[in-house]
Amino acid sequence: MKSIIKSQPTIFVIFGGTGDLSQRKIGPALYNLFLDGWMPEQFTIIGTGRTQLSDEDFSARVLEGVNQFSRSGKAKKDKWDEFSKHLAYQVSDINDFETYKEFGTKINGYKIEWGQEPYVLYYLAVSPNFFPIIASNISKAHLADNPDRTRIVIEKPFGHDLETAKELNHLLSNIYNEKQIYRIDHYLGKETVQNIMAFRFANSILEPIWNRDNIEHVQISVTEQLGMGERGDYYDGAGALRDMVQNHILQLLCLVAMEPPINFSSDELRNRKVEVLRAMRRFSAEDVRMSTVRGQYGRGWIEGKEVPGYREESKVNPESNTETFAAIKFFIDNWRWQGVPFYLRTGKRLHQSSSVISIQFKDVPHRVFPVEATESWQQNRLIISIQPEMSIRLQVQAKRPGLDMILNTVDMVFDYSGTYTSDAPEAYETLLLDTMLGDQTLFMRGDQVEEAWELIMPILKTWESRKSINFPNYSADSWGPETAEALIARDGFHWFTLPLNGKKKK
Ligand code: BG6
Repeated sequence: MKSIIKSQPTIFVIFGGTGDLSQRKIGPALYNLFLDGWMPEQFTIIGTGRTQLSDEDFSARVLEGVNQFSRSGKAKKDKWDEFSKHLAYQVSDINDFETYKEFGTKINGYKIEWGQEPYVLYYLAVSPNFFPIIASNISKAHLADNPDRTRIVIEKPFGHDLETAKELNHLLSNIYNEKQIYRIDHYLGKETVQNIMAFRFANSILEPIWNRDNIEHVQISVTEQLGMGERGDYYDGAGALRDMVQNHILQLLCLVAMEPPINFSSDELRNRKVEVLRAMRRFSAEDVRMSTVRGQYGRGWIEGKEVPGYREESKVNPESNTETFAAIKFFIDNWRWQGVPFYLRTGKRLHQSSSVISIQFKDVPHRVFPVEATESWQQNRLIISIQPEMSIRLQVQAKRPGLDMILNTVDMVFDYSGTYTSDAPEAYETLLLDTMLGDQTLFMRGDQVEEAWELIMPILKTWESRKSINFPNYSADSWGPETAEALIARDGFHWFTLPLNGKKKK
């Protein structure tokens, strides 16, 4: 059980406090933790940024974010008034040492007021090029001297490639203890993602069949209908591989493929996950050609509106070679998974926004039914739907009612919305609470990040060295380039999609 940390005075210092992430995710998450009684009795949230703002201005911004993005809807006046007393703002210049001294004075002020040393969480919700300077200055100003009471939270992207990730890890590990470093991958905080472990390791029926003898292939599909919005400047230097595969999707794969841990401690779980990454087959340039597909979207129509192609998006190079779609076939070279393909795909401006894992089991050894009974035959499939539908479905064959023996595929469904009445917490609520509790289970350890980069480096390098000549190669509202279909069809499979039935991603 997570114990409530009521008596643990806490200060959040949020670098990038006026930014988009703070407004959409961090502010609403902290507010909801407060509503649900998880925040300590004494806490302060100090937003910081270059913009000149008063405490009231900052509070008004946070409120705007809560009203627009919080799962609990618009803030209630009395609750908000209580919460907003804990908000403060400090203008800062992250390059200027004076800024950090001012933080020191502020933190000291709270220490005196509260009569004990607070836990201080430095949240770096800023562009990654500022991570090193902020991390170093915090340390130089002796703001993180107590490793038991100070933590640093780092947003993705963690590095631009293997080398820069190593550099950043090196810099951080010279200043901080690993137990102080919280590298965020928000997918790990999602309720349905955490449930993969519960589902696999709390049920005895799965483990005996969770292997190459019974599973034919695995698909992990994270598709998005969204285009670039205002993120073109970041995304054009990143692309789908860096933005989604290196982190979120590989983490999903690790949860599906990991060995059972001996307990639920954060390092034990992270050890099991890093072993998966280590066992994944590295690609030669030829493998990249055979086992990967990249794409970039062109114009199209989404819900009756014409949307621009990627190269026409704001802050994107009109001749950009950046991929907005990636599909990859991986293998894991260990006893459990030898020979089982893991197909991953992700992309922007696709036909629907959904994240789904599909585990297809091998066919029955012998079909005893007449051909006409089995026209809609489908091998057993376990479908873990992460969003927008939150469900786990087991697809099985059943006899259709009637005088004939006709088989149909039917779903045995565990659907969150039908089973639980309470709202699932947002990923950021879970993660922020864990930073306060000092629980690193759902955060990336330095070696995991490096291993994931190492795995995708050959793909990145090959793609960067050979420009794609046919971009854009899929239109908005499609399922991506046709070659992605061919990648999986060659092995006799096709991409699985779960009909949304009106469900939309929030
Ligand atoms: C972010 C990526 O990490 O995850 C975005 O940078 C992507 O490009 C987002 O849209 C997807 O997250 P979610 O929670 O909306 O599936």
